[in-house]
Order: sequence, then structure tokens, then C-alpha cells
Amino acid sequence: MNKQVLADFEAAWVPRINAYLDEQLQQVSDQDQLTAAMRYSVLAGGKRLRPLLTLAVLTAFEQPITAKELRASVAVELMHTYSLIHDDLPAMDNDRLRRGQLTNHVKFGEDLAILAGDALQPLTFQWLADSQLSAAMIAQLTLALAQATGPKGMVAGQVADVTGAGIQLPLAVLQQLHREKTGALIHYAVVAGSIQATVTGPIQAALLAFADAFGLAFQIYDDILDVTSTPAAMGKATHKDAQEHKNTYPGLLGLVGAKSALKQALNQAQNALKQAETLSQRDLGLLAAFLTYFTN
Ligand code: IPE
Ligand code: IPE
Ligand code: MG
Ligand code: MG
Ligand code: MG
Repeated sequence: MNKQVLADFEAAWVPRINAYLDEQLQQVSDQDQLTAAMRYSVLAGGKRLRPLLTLAVLTAFEQPITAKELRASVAVELMHTYSLIHDDLPAMDNDRLRRGQLTNHVKFGEDLAILAGDALQPLTFQWLADSQLSAAMIAQLTLALAQATGPKGMVAGQVADVTGAGIQLPLAVLQQLHREKTGALIHYAVVAGSIQATVTGPIQAALLAFADAFGLAFQIYDDILDVTSTPAAMGKATHKDAQEHKNTYPGLLGLVGAKSALKQALNQAQNALKQAETLSQRDLGLLAAFLTYFTN
């Protein structure tokens, strides 16, 4: 695991992802307020982790990234941003700070924030559908994204998150919640790379095992940072989960227990990647470098 490998990959791609989003959302709607609200949250920054993961799979498997692959890979950031706008609403987590600025509903009002999220969701599918990838790939990407974000994916996890607030969920249920609310979209990001790079069978399965362990680790780490980090570092409120009586790893297991669960998930991710390397006879150091995200 080499931190510099991730830093170099981010330096190469984050500016391109941001420029692409900016250009494509210039005149995204004839409704100026909607355009402004969508652009506000999408262009506020963010790590761009999900498109980076897709692009990293393409890079690791030597799939050239042309305009088609770029469009289909960046699209997931629209879906992710919709999930953040809705997650921050008063009826959900009631947050005022996101990506270092006021949340969408504080800036534009709840009505426009809801609608900006509503518009970002189908736009994600539009970008897949008009990417000019093969019809077969578009169909696979569409199915995978719908599954990841729908009633058995991200939304199911968000429901468990809000309905479980104030009730102590057992660890197995909390793990499932995390896998759904956050893991599912990360799973999709890796699926999207494997579909576009035509990686199938046991190699794809090993990559997805990596994605699932990474996705769980990502939400455990988010829970930990809510306890240990600051709004200045995170660009969002901290010490918020306990206040909202959310089910989190540190809440259930304590900070030490949460860190040990994180380590366990990271070991699983590393082992899955080793298996993918053995099966594919490729150097997957770029994907391994994503695990250095957790060593800040
Ligand atoms: C925040 O996601 C929501 C979670 C799933 C924990 P990120 O931590 O990827 O947020 P951005 O995109 O960098 O703002
Ligand atoms: C967010 O989880 C998951 C989704 C947006 C789907 P959190 O509620 O923990 O994310 P943050 O901490 O607000 O970024
Ligand atoms: Mg939430
Ligand atoms: Mg939240
Ligand atoms: Mg959180």
C-alpha cells in the first residue's frame, strides 16, 4: 500500500472529474434555480472517491479511458451528491454544513434541495444511457446502479439508519445498515469498472469482495471521524451521530472496538485484492493504495 500512488492518481483525475462535472452542468436545466442548486452541491468538492474507484479499476485492467468511459464513470458522483443533499435534510440528519459550505436546503430552501436531489438521480442514469458505451454495457451498468441505490440498497440502509435512531441495533444489523447505506454505492463503483473493463468470473468476484470490505470500512471510518475529527477537517458537522442517537460502530463498540472492526474490514479488503492479483496476474497496487485513505 503506497500513499503516493493514491495521491498521484487523485492529482491526475480529480481535476478532470471536476472540470467534466462543471462543463456538463453548465446548462443542465432551463430552471435557473435548479441549475444553481445542482451545481452548488456537485461542484462543492468532495473526495470523488466513487468515480476514482471506477477509473482505478479501468486503469488497473488497462482499459483506455475515452470520453465514453469518463462519462459513465463520473456519473456516480451525481447519484452520490443526491444522497448527500437528501441525507442532510431536516427530516433526515438535519445538517447545516456539507463539503465545507452550507447544506443545500439551508442555501436554497428545502423545496429546491429535494428537487435538486430528485433531478440528480435520473441524470445519473441519463449519463450512463447516453455514454455511447455498448448497449450491453449500458444495460448492465443501469441494472447494477438501480440495485445499489434502490429499495434493497442505499435507500434501505438510509431507512434502517433513520428508523433505528434511538434504538440500539445489534452489530449484525448495524453492519448490514452500513453495507447498504454506503457500501452498496462503493460496490457499484467497482462493478462499473469491471463491466467497462470486461472483468468477469472469479476475478470480478474478488474485486467485489474488495469493494464490499472497503465500503464497510469506509462507513466505520466515517463513524469514527464523527467522534475524533473536526468540522474544519471534515467540512461537515462532527459529534453529530451521538446527538442524533444514531447507530454507529463507536456508539456500539466504543472507539477501540470500532478501530478494531475497521482493521478487520481492511484486512478482508487486502486479502480479496491479493486474490484478485493472483487470479488476474496483474499488479493491483493502485487499488491497494485506496486503503491508505484509512491511515490518515
Ligand atoms: C459521505 O461520503 C457520506 C458517506 C457515505 C459516509 P464521502 O465521505 O465520500 O463524502 P464526499 O464526497 O467526500 O463529500
Ligand atoms: C450517509 O451516511 C450515507 C448516505 C448519504 C447514503 P452519514 O449520514 O453517516 O453521512 P454523513 O456523515 O452525513 O456524511
Ligand atoms: Mg445519514
Ligand atoms: Mg448524515
Ligand atoms: Mg456520518
